[in-house]
Amino acid sequence: MSEKTRRELGDQYRRALEDYLDDGGEAALARAYELGRKAAVDGLGVLEMAALHQEALRTCVLPLAALEVRAKAAEAAQAFFRESLSPFEMTHRASREANVALRRLNERLEEESKRIAHTLHDEAAQLLASVHIALDGMSRDLPPSARSRLEEIRGLSHELRPTMLDDLGLVPALQFLAEGVAKRTGLSVAVSGSTHGRLPPAVETALYRITQEALTNAVRHAHPAHVKIQLQREARAVRCSIADDGVGFDVAAVLAHRGGPGLGLVGIRERLDALRGSLQIASTPGRGTRVHVAIPVEG
Ligand SMILES: Nc1ncnc2c1ncn2[C@@H]1O[C@H](COP(=O)(O)OP(=O)(O)OP(=O)(O)O)[C@@H](O)[C@H]1O
Ligand SMILES: [Mg+2]
Repeated sequence: MSEKTRRELGDQYRRALEDYLDDGGEAALARAYELGRKAAVDGLGVLEMAALHQEALRTCVLPLAALEVRAKAAEAAQAFFRESLSPFEMTHRASREANVALRRLNERLEEESKRIAHTLHDEAAQLLASVHIALDGMSRDLPPSARSRLEEIRGLSHELRPTMLDDLGLVPALQFLAEGVAKRTGLSVAVSGSTHGRLPPAVETALYRITQEALTNAVRHAHPAHVKIQLQREARAVRCSIADDGVGFDVAAVLAHRGGPGLGLVGIRERLDALRGSLQIASTPGRGTRVHVAIPVEG
């Protein structure tokens, strides 16, 4: 705001204050509000507003000099000042509300992008299930030699999203996964433990996918001889660990290198976050890796 505009505003303020002190009417108070609004729009701060007020007080012509009148005038001047500040209060509140709204919007966007990611993922799974069924249909029309190759492909697509997970639960589905990997790679993959009954579908899916990723990592990166998958049901949580006896890796370095090529561990963490689960990875060079996850479940 230019010095000239500021002086003009000061003059207007002083005159309006004088009028108010003179007759105490609503019209003058409305001018206080209007001046405050103008000042706020022009970017004047509250402190500058206070300086303006003080200056006006110092130079305004009081109606009468009697003490009692002065006291009343001081009170009236305060009321006038308060009124001139109320537009500032409103802008302040509005910006706070805008902030809250912005934060909510951000949260919504975040949730939405997660939902889209999950939907994409689930739809890919659905698609695989259809492929699986289609392959099943095809294999019946083929000669036996071609049929066995197709059966292999069918087994693969089945592993990606076994209906077994829905029909029989986590442990049989993991056993099926482990057998498939063992057959293809020649590794020994053992599944042990129990979930003592079915778990919530979201937990079963998460544990299946996490184990699948950890197992794939072990096969691709660790060159182990053995992989052990262990499940354990506790009163308020289910735990799952995937341990290999392969080469091991520097966990801290890999986790610190976000935005690196790998999505597997990030995906594991995201699935766990969604279910308030936890992740621990212990790895020793030359001695292998143990991925340990825990997900809270109601008793
Ligand atoms: N069991 C393991 N043994 C040895 N190294 C591992 C093991 N698991 C993970 N790593 C190391 O951690 C890195 C990150 O794993 P992550 O699963 O996030 O990515 P990736 O397997 O490289 O790629 P993606 O999973 O996206 O195909 C791997 O590249 C590998 O170096
Ligand atoms: Mg991986």
